[in-house]
Amino acid sequence: MSSRLLRGQPLAGRHVVLGVTGSISCYKAVELASRLVQAEAVVDVALTAHAAEFVTPLTFRSITGREPYLDMFRPHGEHGEAHVELARRADLMLIAPATASTIARIAHGLADDFVSLTALATTVPLLVAPAMDSQMWEHAATQANRTLLAERGVQFVGPAGGRLASGRVGAGRLVEPAEIVERVKARLGREHGDLVGRRVIVTAGGNREAIDPVRFIGNHSSGKQGYAIAAAARDRGATVTLISTAGLAPPPEVDVIAVSSHAEMFAAVQAACRGADVLVMAAAVADYRPVAPADHKIKRERAGDVTIELTQNADIIASVDEPGLVKVAFAAETDDLMENAARKLTAKGARLLVANDVTAPDAGFAVDTNRVTILDDRGGADELALMSKYDVGMRLLDRVAELLAEAR
Ligand code: CTP
Repeated sequence: MSSRLLRGQPLAGRHVVLGVTGSISCYKAVELASRLVQAEAVVDVALTAHAAEFVTPLTFRSITGREPYLDMFRPHGEHGEAHVELARRADLMLIAPATASTIARIAHGLADDFVSLTALATTVPLLVAPAMDSQMWEHAATQANRTLLAERGVQFVGPAGGRLASGRVGAGRLVEPAEIVERVKARLGREHGDLVGRRVIVTAGGNREAIDPVRFIGNHSSGKQGYAIAAAARDRGATVTLISTAGLAPPPEVDVIAVSSHAEMFAAVQAACRGADVLVMAAAVADYRPVAPADHKIKRERAGDVTIELTQNADIIASVDEPGLVKVAFAAETDDLMENAARKLTAKGARLLVANDVTAPDAGFAVDTNRVTILDDRGGADELALMSKYDVGMRLLDRVAELLAEAR
């Protein structure tokens, strides 16, 4: 698995069976299949006859490059019992969209179409993304079937709330394909990842230090690199806590603790690090705060020119002293990158430090890519090419996983 992770692609070579059942949201299953293929998964699509009324097998064949499974009575390729073969080869089965009747079929062990047949024949993780009208989803029968399946370890993804095909507003929408792919990665990470059983704490974003109730001192950190590291750690099976000041969409299956000031982040990091394995301080921590924030808005006419006295904040990463914790620092610099970075690595007691020059246009704040050098506490410096922030996370976690393995 590690050679795949070097390319930051946890689904590479993973075999996903995508079961598609008859709902108006079938068209989204096309995008889902496409995203899975782009993530380098091997995707076999199984369709019910009703699904094939909405989207043709040809569409899925064109996207996956593989013949979809539809007819239970027609031998597929060289294998006589196609559903058993398909179920055996899979790493994960995903049914999206899943109708009320498919959920009922699987709950009650009825296997009369290719999708329910494969779901019953497989022992690999099963993810179900329902799509139906809210009344059908809320019906006691559907809810009982859901409970039954959840008790057996089936993982439900959604449904999401919103406007439904019927015009009603409620729960029943298929979760967006991008999120379903994240849930697939997270689930496979829990099955096969090299950080299973590890607790990883990540901080993200810049602190806001109050000047008065409406103004603050802040910085340009977007939080994107921290979020990408949290998602990457999750996809390798870690239990992840993300302590964030950024208002970005929370990554699925990551525990997000929202903070704002340095003091809040300090307290949250100290508490979260108890018993944790890894701390990645990607946050742009505020070094200073106003000594005496005003409790009322400072009025321009009354106050005239204002001088704000600042006092220094404690160093969060340096003050965390948890035995065995692998600490990873960041250094966003505008000058003398490598000298400053090497000095910080030692000063903060970090095993690794991610250094980047924030003046480069394709690296640093607010963009989706980064160009970093990973320094270690043995004097090594690994200069990485320009890559996505998620890939930076994966490369960094390769190094973290090595350190954790050494400590065993
Ligand atoms: N950091 C921290 N607590 C602080 C300041 C920084 O935990 N009070 C962490 C950051 O999250 C980062 C690393 O220390 O992982 C380096 O942060 P940086 O702002 O680059 O360095 P400083 O120590 O603040 O030094 P300077 O601002 O002088 O460059």
